[in-house]
Amino acid sequence: MFIKVPKGTQDILPEDTPKWYYIKNIIREILTKYGYQEIRTPSFEYTELFVRGIGESTDIVTKEMFTFPDRKGRSLTLRPEGTAPVVRAYLENKMDRSSQVVKLFYIGPMFRCEKPQAGRFRQFNQFGIEVIGTKSPVVDVEVIIAALEIYKKLGLKNLEILINSVGCKRCRAIYVQKLKEFIKDKKDFLCSECVNRYEKNPLRILDCKKDNCQKIIKTAPIITDYLCQECKQHFKEVKSYLNDLKIKYYVEPRLVRGLDYYTKTSFEIVSGELGAQNAIGGGGRYDDLVEELGGKPTPAVGFAAGIERMIIVMNQQKIGWPKNKGLDIFVAKVSERNKNIAFKLLQKIRNAGLSADMDYSAKSLKSQMRIAHKIGAKYTMIIGEEEISKNMVTLRNMKTKEQKEVEVDNLINELEKGSLG
Ligand code: HAM
Repeated sequence: MFIKVPKGTQDILPEDTPKWYYIKNIIREILTKYGYQEIRTPSFEYTELFVRGIGESTDIVTKEMFTFPDRKGRSLTLRPEGTAPVVRAYLENKMDRSSQVVKLFYIGPMFRCEKPQAGRFRQFNQFGIEVIGTKSPVVDVEVIIAALEIYKKLGLKNLEILINSVGCKRCRAIYVQKLKEFIKDKKDFLCSECVNRYEKNPLRILDCKKDNCQKIIKTAPIITDYLCQECKQHFKEVKSYLNDLKIKYYVEPRLVRGLDYYTKTSFEIVSGELGAQNAIGGGGRYDDLVEELGGKPTPAVGFAAGIERMIIVMNQQKIGWPKNKGLDIFVAKVSERNKNIAFKLLQKIRNAGLSADMDYSAKSLKSQMRIAHKIGAKYTMIIGEEEISKNMVTLRNMKTKEQKEVEVDNLINELEKGSLG
């Protein structure tokens, strides 16, 4: 029996890689336009970073991390998300000394040991953006707009923006107290996980999808009623900028998201096409994280999106993308005796910047033509016994089936001229 890919992971096969290039190019193009610079952090970090960054009692930290010791026994974790690593890199590389706001983006694999289902994987790819060093609500909106522009350029339709404010440390503490008071005499009706959450992280109860918990949550007090003046003003300004830009959004006062670092704005972009895992992206402000990870108090805001989920929606909405370019030339030889000449010409074509390939086994000309056709070569260059003795080869346009003899020394010229159309 052959070995399969680990549960929750998948191969991206050659027919699909052009899709990934295409999407990543659009992400890079648009984010560069918005002034973001790309950062690449390692795929694993010391576990402590995520425990401190994401929050000890979150589902990600308690249940979903791939954690293992290194050879000296230090605990490492495959990154479940990109924000804590970016903040770590920001501090470690002294980007905090910059007088400018730091605007970074990343594209890469993340790892969460979740129960796999449609749109939920154990290794998945995110593109993410982080703006560190400003508390301006305009930036919260810029982050949303940049994400929307990427989705739009890719052709994604029918996306909804859900937005909330989870307040700051001070006003959230008052709200959490109110929430606990409200739930106290209903605790017996909560699921076992929420009973646990009630003690450790009551805000997380709002995120529970179980029916009984949902019933209780529906009538629970909402956080936006408890925001302090500063948080209230910030939220008002974010909504007002969105209104000015005519960006439709829904205020969802029970949106808390699965990471503990959020303050003030938190938002999700959802698609009806994704079923239960409907978030195509999410983000928000995290004004305390830099300090929690050892830096000076520094406000920040960011967003991340799941690329696999974007592809699922693109497939469902039947959105196309540029196909693989295909090979320029397939080199075919009539006789094995000419394989050295064929190989030399193959290299000559490649050195001229064209893509070319040949068959390295002793296949018949007919089989070689079949391969050329299958891989979508534009031309086949046929090296025949007689022609090559005259320093000539035959070029065949695979689409029009037109053929022409050309001099080897003139080959590149002819190809560049596109003499066969
Ligand atoms: P998140 O909501 O945990 O936020 O993940 C962002 C997006 O990653 C989700 O909306 C979803 O599209 C995708 N995603 C998450 N888990 C999976 C999975 N198991 N399989 C497939 N896709 C998944 C964050 O990660 C934050 N770091 C976002 C952020 C950046 N906040 C501030 N800055």
